[in-house]
Amino acid sequence: MRTHYCTDLDQNSVGEEVTLAGWVNSYRDHGGVIFIDLRDKSGLIQLVCDPADSTDAHKTASTVRDEFVLIAKGKVRLRKEGLENPRLKTGKIEVVVDSLRVENRSDPLPFTMGDPNVGEDIRLKYRYLDLRREDMFKTFELRSKAAIAARNLLDSLGFLEVETPILTKSTPEGARDYLVPSRVHNGEFYALPQSPQLFKQLLMIGGFDRYFQIAKCFRDEDLRADRQPEFTQIDVEMSFCTQEDVMGVAEDLLKAVFSACGHEIKTPFKRITYRESMEKYGNDRPDLRFSLELSDVIDLFENCESPIFAQIAQYKKLNRIKALKVPGGDTLFSRKTIKELESFVSRFGAKGLAYIQVKEEGLKGPILKFLPEDAVETMKSRLDLQVGDIVFFGAGERKIVWDYMGRLRTEVARRLDLIDDNRFEFVWVIDFPMFELEEGELHLKALHHPFTMPKNIDEDDLEAIDSMAYDVVLNGIELGGGSIRIHKLDIQQKVFKMLGISDEEAEEKFGFLLDALRFGAPPHGGFALGFDRLMMLIDKKESIRDVIAFPKTQSATCLLTRAPGPVEEEQLKELGIRIRKQPKTDASK
Ligand code: AMO
Repeated sequence: MRTHYCTDLDQNSVGEEVTLAGWVNSYRDHGGVIFIDLRDKSGLIQLVCDPADSTDAHKTASTVRDEFVLIAKGKVRLRKEGLENPRLKTGKIEVVVDSLRVENRSDPLPFTMGDPNVGEDIRLKYRYLDLRREDMFKTFELRSKAAIAARNLLDSLGFLEVETPILTKSTPEGARDYLVPSRVHNGEFYALPQSPQLFKQLLMIGGFDRYFQIAKCFRDEDLRADRQPEFTQIDVEMSFCTQEDVMGVAEDLLKAVFSACGHEIKTPFKRITYRESMEKYGNDRPDLRFSLELSDVIDLFENCESPIFAQIAQYKKLNRIKALKVPGGDTLFSRKTIKELESFVSRFGAKGLAYIQVKEEGLKGPILKFLPEDAVETMKSRLDLQVGDIVFFGAGERKIVWDYMGRLRTEVARRLDLIDDNRFEFVWVIDFPMFELEEGELHLKALHHPFTMPKNIDEDDLEAIDSMAYDVVLNGIELGGGSIRIHKLDIQQKVFKMLGISDEEAEEKFGFLLDALRFGAPPHGGFALGFDRLMMLIDKKESIRDVIAFPKTQSATCLLTRAPGPVEEEQLKELGIRIRKQPKTDASK
């Protein structure tokens, strides 16, 4: 219907007859002459409807309102001097309309497009209107470019794109499954895949050697700004490879995707072990855009006169005393700020936030009186304390201390404006422990998934068994992860056993995988990148919802289609399902 997109036109088009198609972005009636800003996916251009040029077009123009759909024919001309609009790409020209057709009308919009104060709920309810915004289009244009770059790179490396089932059995990745009832087999359910994990391993056993898929995954878990119940992974698996080979492919892939989005990144990325990451940054997804680090000082508190600190220092395996030195922090942080930081960490289980200030006249802080002289001296040199520094301390059970001291590190960096939003800092976290002692220390669970190859399976101390798992982290967010898989039946059976999965349960849940491992499974490994997270970071968006065309809310609903919703009684009957309303608890009555 059109000859050009709006922003295809410029001064070189002056004199051309063109046909344009799009929406009324705005209109102004200037005493006879009507100006319409016409919008298509490329941007805006000004249409001029002057009764002196065409009475019909002018008459039609007088009926248009915002978001009407128009087809306009006319001639490009330069705008008069002084009437140019430097904010528009087409601001030096306009189209004098000689024929105008209204293809469709529009009701007044439920919100003003582009108004930054419009609530997300209403934007999601009318997502198709929200998508008409220029920056939305740019986001999805970038996402499309990134997906194509990923496909091209993997294709060039000999990876085959294969689709795996959506109606399947449970694929454990640590979340709850979404279940789909079967009509043919009443009382039985499919599970939607949490990832294509087991199928991609079967494709390796099937001899495909190199597989990829831009795959939809489904996880019923608590939602956050970087999590959705259905999301997309760039999923990769390869055979006869080392861990370094797999990480190299992931780096090449990220390089290609970033380059397609206009950013050149350097590879290889830094690598740190899981243990080092926990000790230095308090978590396994460190933000390396700033250099603050946690230091171990538990040994200095062994002979401390504070019973609380001294007791914590007795149990070095499970407890930690960590110090966070903030250079210049004493001059930068007011008393009020320090109080705020204390209440910040208390939200994450800290019982207080001890600190030492380094003044001209020496160290200052209530805990100093409990510490022996030599411990203070060692601390000074270990932390390289300088006048003006402040040191915060976290003490207690290691998981809690890591967590709140890691968060404190980021919070301090945020307040001191140490985080450069324009940097991309990648890091591989490697050597994850194979097992984690859960609360109560009763259960073991695979930190990655139970198909990950252990490094030293015969180790007596289960916590000391490392796995061949790796995560790639960007700016403090886990972008992806993977592992070398178990390809030997006896090791897989042993790992299931260690996880407390009985032979019967293993057979029922993963019998097909165990069977497949009997028939010449090659060594293999792979990874998956969270594609939505990747785009959120590249496009510098606050939430993963901003890079998904039709996302769900934090409570896993779609405001546009109102899913999930009730179904007909007849459908339930066919499925053999009766809805039992949850009995109200005492608290909710
Ligand atoms: P994992 O569970 O670590 O590994 O997932 C890989 C990446 O997927 C993204 N991701 C999510 N993105 C949005 N919403 C979610 N709910 C969500 N959950 C995960 C993250 C994450 O790093 N099969 C393995 C990969 C492998 O071993 O090859 C897997 O799924 O960016």
